[in-house]
Amino acid sequence: MTLQPLHSKGPSFSRIITGVWRWHTLSTETVERLIHTSLDEGITTFDHADIYGDHSCEELFGNALKKDASLREKIQLVTKCGIKFSSAKRPATWVKHYDTSEEHITWSVENSLKMLHTDHLDLLLIHRPDPLLDPHEVSETFVKLKAAGKVLHFGVSNFTPSQFEMLQHFLPFPLVTNQIEISLSRIDPLFNGDLDLMLKHGASAMAWSPLGGGKLHFEERVWFAKTAKYNASYSQLALAWLLKHPSTIFPILGTTKPERISEAAKSVDINLDRQDWFEMLKWVMGREVD
Ligand SMILES: NC(=O)c1ccc[n+]([C@@H]2O[C@H](COP(=O)([O-])OP(=O)(O)OC[C@H]3O[C@@H](n4cnc5c(N)ncnc54)[C@H](OP(=O)(O)O)[C@@H]3O)[C@@H](O)[C@H]2O)c1
Repeated sequence: MTLQPLHSKGPSFSRIITGVWRWHTLSTETVERLIHTSLDEGITTFDHADIYGDHSCEELFGNALKKDASLREKIQLVTKCGIKFSSAKRPATWVKHYDTSEEHITWSVENSLKMLHTDHLDLLLIHRPDPLLDPHEVSETFVKLKAAGKVLHFGVSNFTPSQFEMLQHFLPFPLVTNQIEISLSRIDPLFNGDLDLMLKHGASAMAWSPLGGGKLHFEERVWFAKTAKYNASYSQLALAWLLKHPSTIFPILGTTKPERISEAAKSVDINLDRQDWFEMLKWVMGREVD
C-alpha cells in the first residue's frame, strides 16, 4: 500500500488507517501485534484521540514507541483534542463539554506528545465542533504549534461544511481533513455536502466506523454473488465501496484482531464496478436511486 496525500499540501497517509479507539482492554503484546501487522500490510497511519480508553490508549501505544524508537519514523500519528468528560483521571471536569481554548489545545498537544513518546504529531484534529470555538484563538494556537514543529498539519472531525468553511477562513494554512462517520450504514455524507466540501478543498475525508462499528448487517443472499465475483469478504467489499468515491476517502479500521487488519488491507486492490457500487447503495437505501 503506497502513501497517498490527504491534501495537496500534505500529509501523506496510508489509504487504510488503523484506529486505536477500542484498544484499551488489550494486552501490551496484542497492541504490539496490531501495530506490526498494520506495518506489514503497509498501514502506517494510526488514529488516536486524547480521550480514547478513558485517556489510556495514547499511552498504551506510546509504550510500544518507547520500547522501539525506530517505529516512529515508519508511522504517521493522528490525534484529537477538545472533548472533556468526567473521569477519575480528569477530576476537575464535572460535565461533558468541549474546550477549544488556546490553553486546553496547547496542554492537550503537550500531553499527547508525552503519552505517545514523540516530539511531533503528523495531524491534530478538533474532535467535535465546539459552539464556543473562537476561530481567532484556534488559528493563533495552530500557528504557534506548527511554528514550534509540534504539529505538522491540522484538521477537524464531525464538522458540518459551514463549520469547516468558517474555521478555514481564519487559518493561514489548509485544514487537511474532516474526519466523519461514513459507511454503508451511514451514507448521508454522499448527499449532505460533506464529501462535496472535501473535493472543493482538495482535502480527503477520514471515515470513522467504516464497517458501521461492526453493526453492518450483510444479507447473505444478496451479497453472496458479489463476494464470489470479487473473491472478497463482506467487509472488504464494504471498504472497497468507500474507496471507490472520487474524494479519496481514507477508512479508519476499528478492529482489535490482527487477522482482520490483514483482511481489510486487501480491499485497496478491489475496484468495484459502477453498477455493483450502485447496487450496494440500493441495498442500504432499500430502493434504487431516482
Ligand atoms: N472522530 C470521531 O468522532 C470518531 C468516532 C468513532 C471512531 N473514530 C475512529 O474510527 C476508528 C474506527 O471506528 P470503529 O471501531 O467504530 O470502526 P469499525 O471498523 O466500523 O468497527 C470496528 C468493530 O467492528 C467489529 N467487526 C466485526 N466484524 C468485523 C470485520 N470483519 N472486520 C473488522 N471489524 C469487524 C470489530 O470487532 P473486532 O475487534 O472483534 O474485530 C470492532 O468492534 C476508531 O478506532 C477511531 O480511531 C473516530
